[in-house]
Amino acid sequence: MLVTIEGIDGSGKSSLVSSLKVLLSDLSPVFTREPGSTWLGDQVRRAVAERMDPVTEALLFAADHAAHLSTLVRPSLRSGRLVISDRYSDSRYAYQQETLKGHIPEPLVWLQELHSGWTIRPDLTFLIVLPVEEALSRIRDKRAKEHFENHHLLVRVQEHYLALAGNEPSRFVVIDGMKEEEEISGFVAGVIRDSFVRSRSHRQP
Ligand code: TYD
Repeated sequence: MLVTIEGIDGSGKSSLVSSLKVLLSDLSPVFTREPGSTWLGDQVRRAVAERMDPVTEALLFAADHAAHLSTLVRPSLRSGRLVISDRYSDSRYAYQQETLKGHIPEPLVWLQELHSGWTIRPDLTFLIVLPVEEALSRIRDKRAKEHFENHHLLVRVQEHYLALAGNEPSRFVVIDGMKEEEEISGFVAGVIRDSFVRSRSHRQP
């Protein structure tokens, strides 16, 4: 079963993932992320840091996704593991839909076509939503701002995320990022556990 966690920068994904590692340890999930921790992921981060043009950036993110699927996601799913990814295709559909504006006529259509035929649709996606001011203040407390961490962009990215969630309500679970960390992680862990147990009982008749 493939679970993804999405949200704008500063939404609290990293803390949620750390808690899930503890709360779901008995299920031995495979925890992973995009951009990945391979040399490809490093090139993506470099392109972002150097403010490469948006089409280059989008294609690098997609290349990283292809490598992620072939080296880790597909083999893990094939062996029946629970895979939990911190960011996945919806990050492209939300961020690059915005950054590609003015460079490509219909960015979302282009991005979805770019993924079509080879990507794997997540079974469950948690989208953490919170006011952009709050997300930015959490980032500011921690470290210097990155390229994507500006107010206007993140407002639009979050709108795109919410539109994606609205189009696929059976896959998305929208989480209020202003709730206490423990409440969020307890709830998310419970939903993942129930879905995984159910999916396993379907696999083993
Ligand atoms: P990262 O440095 O891993 O930060 P975070 O902890 O917020 O996930 O992510 C790098 C940045 O890349 C982040 O601002 C989101 C962005 N991103 C995209 O624009 N498109 C994508 O497809 C992915 C995976 C990430």
